[in-house]
Amino acid sequence: SFRVELSESGLTVDVTPGTSVLEAIRAAGVAVASSCEMGICGTCETRVIAGEIEHHDSILTEAERAAGNVMMICVSRASSAGLVLAR
Ligand code: FES
Repeated sequence: SFRVELSESGLTVDVTPGTSVLEAIRAAGVAVASSCEMGICGTCETRVIAGEIEHHDSILTEAERAAGNVMMICVSRASSAGLVLAR
């Protein structure tokens, strides 16, 4: 599992295997808009303030992936111990 810190909500949530960042954040009571939940629509795009992202979406360009400052939280995860998101 990895830890996600929400800079706007002031919450920290653990994301366990089999649970998406989106689901973990919602379970903590934060409202997040989503649509496809498959990494193809872009609705859940979230700004990443810190941490390494493991991208699993099908929308971001290589340059956007390399920049590492946005992620689709319905499918993408952390490759570091934690992420800080602007949520
Ligand atoms: Fe569609 Fe995340 S909800 S990309």
